[in-house]
Amino acid sequence: MGLGMGDQTPASQRKAAAAAGGGGLAALKLLLCVLLVGLALRLLDGPSAYLLSDTATATAAPEGEVASDGARVHASTVVSNGTMLITACFWEDEMTNDSRWSCDLSHGEWVPDSLGPSYTNGSCRFIEMPQNCMTNGRPDSGYLYWRWKPYGCDVPRFEGEKFLEAMRGKHWALIGDSILRNHVQSLLCLLAKVEEPTQVYHDRTFKSRRWHFASHNITVSLIWAPFLVEAEIFEDDDGRSTSELQLHLDILDSNWTRQWNSFDYVVISTGQWFPKTAVYWEDGVLTGCHYCKNKNIAELTFEYAFRKSLRKAFQFITSSPHKPVVFYRTWSPSHFENGEWSSGGTCKRTVPFKPGEAGDRESDKKMWRIEREEFAKAAAHDRSNNAGRLKLLDTFELSLLRPDGHSGPYRTYHPFDKGTTSKVQNDCLHWCLPGPIDAWNDIIMEMLEMN
Ligand SMILES: *[C@@H]1O[C@H](CO)[C@@H](O)[C@H](O)[C@H]1NC(C)=O
Ligand SMILES: *[C@@H]1O[C@H](CO)[C@@H](O)[C@H](O)[C@H]1NC(C)=O
Ligand SMILES: *[C@@H]1O[C@H](CO)[C@@H](O)[C@H](O)[C@H]1NC(C)=O
Ligand SMILES: *[C@@H]1O[C@H](CO)[C@@H](O)[C@H](O)[C@H]1NC(C)=O
Ligand SMILES: *[C@@H]1O[C@H](CO)[C@@H](O)[C@H](O)[C@H]1NC(C)=O
Repeated sequence: MGLGMGDQTPASQRKAAAAAGGGGLAALKLLLCVLLVGLALRLLDGPSAYLLSDTATATAAPEGEVASDGARVHASTVVSNGTMLITACFWEDEMTNDSRWSCDLSHGEWVPDSLGPSYTNGSCRFIEMPQNCMTNGRPDSGYLYWRWKPYGCDVPRFEGEKFLEAMRGKHWALIGDSILRNHVQSLLCLLAKVEEPTQVYHDRTFKSRRWHFASHNITVSLIWAPFLVEAEIFEDDDGRSTSELQLHLDILDSNWTRQWNSFDYVVISTGQWFPKTAVYWEDGVLTGCHYCKNKNIAELTFEYAFRKSLRKAFQFITSSPHKPVVFYRTWSPSHFENGEWSSGGTCKRTVPFKPGEAGDRESDKKMWRIEREEFAKAAAHDRSNNAGRLKLLDTFELSLLRPDGHSGPYRTYHPFDKGTTSKVQNDCLHWCLPGPIDAWNDIIMEMLEMN
């Protein structure tokens, strides 16, 4: 698998190639090392050398570090009363420790990034209005200048050209709720820099859609299946419902399963709709209800329904003879403060949280835990079938740290033009584009490369 095109060879082959071409590389490293030591000597020649030479005890000078081609060269120096001893000049690289290929991409922090987003409201026409914060007049832009940095490695930027080359003739499907719609826009914007896709299908409500990249013959489908299981929904686009949801926890939504055999790559997720008031059915029998007014029906938690539905979806994925590469994307947290969606909650922050700043977030973590538990069981089953094509796209932590990345009031065009007294609905669930969830695609790209 992997993005196996041209030089994108598997890690083992890369290592071999690196070893084979080691002569020139080693010479380069040696040169770098000499330059580094030279630099250190020069520095010690100045006022700092005087300071250092004043100390009686031996002091280790800071290690010099130069990155070149993924290799790190270290020059250690020891300074002792004006005499400098060069103790070591050595390097580490992919051959000795290949952190890139074993790094946990889900765990890290956001670091400042002067580069900014790789597309804008002006360059991408696939950003839908509720996510188009720039056009809608969001005044701050600092939230665009951050980069996800996993501990122990870097995630390179998504490369549209490489992706399209590697995916010739393939069909990608993004299956789930409106967060998947949010995600597909980011993917289309990143790819449209190389080739503009054409929309080749949409359903009546534009919830399910399909695009084709003609010159690469790549299809991208967005498939509306907010519960993954079958649901009868009685609700308009603003979330006003006229009746309770009817959820069949043991029947999958055929909107995605009937197209399964045509997919080569799948991004799938669910969860956001489960906390709603709903009646649950299993084997055609009404088994319970969540938040119902009818007290004759047993109360069941939505976490129970979420787990059941997820399990059903994973059972289908792991037992189907057709085996696309499947990324299960984890829970996407909202960041309402001082209220919820329906009670005036807002999200006014303009910078990411530092690790730990997000608070304990017990209800988010509960959803995340259920996903990881069900995923682990499914992945074990998948491996025992020698498939190994089920992957966890664990974007929870990086998303949790971005309270500043939501549309907030800028889900509508210039919301405050009517005066500050008018009530403005905030969206602290969906994400601005460009914005933090562009990193989800960077991670997908890196996961494809790691294979
Ligand atoms: C400096 O170091 C040298 C050898 O390391 C030693 O012989 C000498 O006495 C030292 N001078 C002072 C002033 O500490
Ligand atoms: C490689 O890195 C891992 C984790 O970063 C570490 O546990 C391991 O000891 C390292 N191996 C070598 C050969 O340095
Ligand atoms: C993009 O957003 C800026 C404000 O950030 C606005 O001035 C510009 O008109 C927008 N461009 C488009 C094409 O909407
Ligand atoms: C395009 O890709 C599809 C598979 O997604 C394949 O069936 C079809 O033959 C391809 N068309 C061309 C012109 O290569
Ligand atoms: C399938 O999607 C359509 C709209 O795209 C929707 O109306 C329908 O309810 C969905 N089917 C199920 C079983 O959810």
